[in-house]
Amino acid sequence: MLLKDVVSTQESLERMSRAFEAAGLFFGHGTDNAWDEACWLLETLARRRGLPPLQVDTVLDATLLQAASALAEQRIATRKPLAYLLNEAWFCGLSFFVDERVLVPRSPFAELIDKRLAPLLKHEPRRILDLCTGGGCIGIACALMFPAAEVVLADLSSDALEVARVNVERHGLGKRVSLLQSDLFAAIDGRFDLIVSNPPYVGVDEYAELPPEYLHEPSLGLLTGAEGLEIPLGILDRAVDYLEADGWLFLETGATWPLLDAARSDLPLLWLDFDWGGEGICAVKASDLLRARSQPR
Ligand SMILES: C[S@@+](CC[C@H](N)C(=O)[O-])C[C@H]1O[C@@H](n2cnc3c(N)ncnc32)[C@H](O)[C@@H]1O
Repeated sequence: MLLKDVVSTQESLERMSRAFEAAGLFFGHGTDNAWDEACWLLETLARRRGLPPLQVDTVLDATLLQAASALAEQRIATRKPLAYLLNEAWFCGLSFFVDERVLVPRSPFAELIDKRLAPLLKHEPRRILDLCTGGGCIGIACALMFPAAEVVLADLSSDALEVARVNVERHGLGKRVSLLQSDLFAAIDGRFDLIVSNPPYVGVDEYAELPPEYLHEPSLGLLTGAEGLEIPLGILDRAVDYLEADGWLFLETGATWPLLDAARSDLPLLWLDFDWGGEGICAVKASDLLRARSQPR
């Protein structure tokens, strides 16, 4: 047992984080280092047992230590992201159910939503589309930030939509948030003030180099074409048909962003800066998408 002869919170966090580092785990599915990963694991188990917040010198009981040990050992043996082992991920300060049908939420969209997509968005959006929604985190966080908006969560994967449904119910949004199976815009109806999308944007070479943690995630959520551009380009091509005249598209492409920027140099894509970390989300106005469409490329 990993936590054998351990007594306090501090000791167990030290033991777990050392073991995580020694095992060469990758962090990037909710935390970015071994210590935070150990804190997340222990805090979740304690919270689920209804315990008060742990202090560094809290003496932990044997059942909690056993459960934490087992989970830490599973994390090391399987290389599964901790969010899957806990069936929980956090996004915008909100708890989401996750399992291996969806990617673990980790998008810098959280910061944009927290700032109400200001200053670009000038008025409260009435209709919002979260395209490639996965477990629904981005669209649901938008729905909670803009309480008058109607929100559509769309994804090609019926598995992902089942997870999104659990999250819509978890956040009590069944009346305003709907789910739609759609291959990009194929089944989408009407126009939106805001389209948000964190689609697949990983190319074949990059996928082959990813740490083992990523292989537990559905490849449909990551891979798109040789360079990771196929779906992002498809969204840029067609979003204008689904945006109101003064609408905005916010599109994430992570580290693929320079390729997308070069591929659509005809568009004034506004690449956003983040205080909380991350990169690769652009914003583009419907009017600019329309202008680009009418000009030869
Ligand atoms: C990077 S994941 C993003 C999930 C979620 N938006 C998030 O930020 O955690 C991309 C999602 O796109 C979906 N997807 C892949 N191809 C699609 C397509 N052609 N049309 C719609 N959704 C697609 C996948 O099923 C996956 O859920």
